[in-house]
Order: sequence, then structure tokens, then C-alpha cells
Amino acid sequence: MTELTIDVKGLSKSYGGRKVVDGVDMQVAAGRIVGFLGPNGSGKTTSLRMLCGLLTPDAGDGRVLGLDFRRQATEVKRQVGYMTQRFGLYEDLSIRENLDFIARLFSMADRREAVAAALQRLGLASREKQLAGALSGGWKQRLALAACLLHRPRLLLLDEPTAGVDPKARREFWEHIHRLAGEGITVLVSTHYMDEAERCDELVYIAYGRVLARGTAASIVEAAGASDLEDAFVRLVGQATDNFAEAG
Ligand SMILES: Nc1ncnc2c1ncn2[C@@H]1O[C@H](COP(=O)(O)OP(=O)(O)O)[C@@H](O)[C@H]1O
Ligand SMILES: [Mg+2]
Repeated sequence: MTELTIDVKGLSKSYGGRKVVDGVDMQVAAGRIVGFLGPNGSGKTTSLRMLCGLLTPDAGDGRVLGLDFRRQATEVKRQVGYMTQRFGLYEDLSIRENLDFIARLFSMADRREAVAAALQRLGLASREKQLAGALSGGWKQRLALAACLLHRPRLLLLDEPTAGVDPKARREFWEHIHRLAGEGITVLVSTHYMDEAERCDELVYIAYGRVLARGTAASIVEAAGASDLEDAFVRLVGQATDNFAEAG
């Protein structure tokens, strides 16, 4: 039996009477990298925020890191590394100062060790004195990833961590993700980039708050009768839009 780091069923959330997440099931096995894809506004961020205990779902049951993700939301929050779409760094602090500041916020007992480990892990040590505000987009994202690793989470929820980052920096970022997964960390990551989707073990594709496809990239392409992943998603969302329009 494989251990499931995320095992949640029927995740739902409405805003103003509109269901933006509508019965999403999410299973992620330990140590896997699962890509979360879907058009803008399809409910990815809302789903991630519910899974990490930041947002209360209207419905849904299950476990995240073995914890009841609704009743033990505070504990889940403490054990998950969540990287928001727009991570706020202190631009006038250095890389090390940013990490040190966050470690203080967490009241970490072994702050020095945690900061040193995070710097080391993401290859930031040689630049630790550089101001965050002067970093390129790629390095800023690396610092953001280092920040959410400080408390040594076993699960990372990354929300479009490489949006707007150049291809070389995105590749490097993904090498780090794979290294972390190799250490046993489980990763659920949203992205719009097809080359990144290809680097995931499995994918979950949603539109209108519902899961339209899941599985390996190859299985999704085959099931959709598509030529490649992008083509498969275009077909899937096209069908869903037709159904959605009919349902009114
Ligand atoms: N706090 C909120 N209040 C009202 N509507 C929201 C709120 N958060 C998200 N939404 C709406 O829910 C839908 C899904 O949003 P989101 O989860 O951010 O999608 P994605 O991350 O896939 O782009 C969007 O239509 C968005 O406008
Ligand atoms: Mg989003």
C-alpha cells in the first residue's frame, strides 16, 4: 500500500453562491510531484489554500499528512510549506536577513541551523548578503522556496512558483523540486507551463472547479486522443465549456 500524503475527497467552496471549487478529489502519494493545471480562475489557488488549512472548505473530507485537514487545520498549516502566487519578500533585507526574519516569526528554536540549512539546500549561501530587491525573478523564487522550507515541511504546496521567470531559471527551480522530492518531500505544484507539467509524476487538470483529467501526461494525452498535452487540455476545456454553457 502506498502512503498518501494528501487524501481528500469532495473539496468544495462557493463565493457569493457560485461554486468555484466543486467536489475536487485529490490524492498524492508520498514523495511524488503532482502538477495542478487549469485555466485562470478554475479554482487552483482556492483548492491549495483549503488543503493547507488557510481557508475553510464548505465540504470535503480527508487527510493531509495524516491529519484531519479540517479539524486539525492549525496543525496542517504548521507542517505544510505553502508558497503563494505572489510571495512577499522584504526587498531591503538580504537573502539571509529575509530567512532569519521568517525563522523569527516562526519562533524557531534552532533558527541559525534552519537558516543555514535552507541557504545550503537551494544554493543561496554564496549570495546570502545580496538584497532581495536586487535579485532576478528566478533568484527571488528560489529565496521564496527556501523560506517555505525553513520549518522542514514534508509537503510543499507551490502556487505558480515560476510564473514570469525565465526558462533557464525555471529549469533550475525544477531541479531543486526534483531534489526535494528525492529526499521524500511531497509536492503539489500549480503551473501554466507545459514543459513543467511534463516534469511532474502525475497531473490533475481542473476547469470550472471540477477535475477534468488526472494521471500521467502520457495517459491524459492518449485518453483525450490528442497530439500533445497542450492539445489535450484545449480539447478537455472545450468540452467542459460546451457542457457549462448548456447547463446555463
Ligand atoms: N475571496 C474570494 N472572493 C470571491 N471570489 C473569489 C475569492 N477567491 C477566489 N475567487 C474566485 O474563485 C474563482 C477561482 O479562483 P482561483 O482559485 O484563484 O483560481 P486559479 O488559481 O485557478 O486562477 C475565480 O473566479 C475567483 O475570482
Ligand atoms: Mg491561482
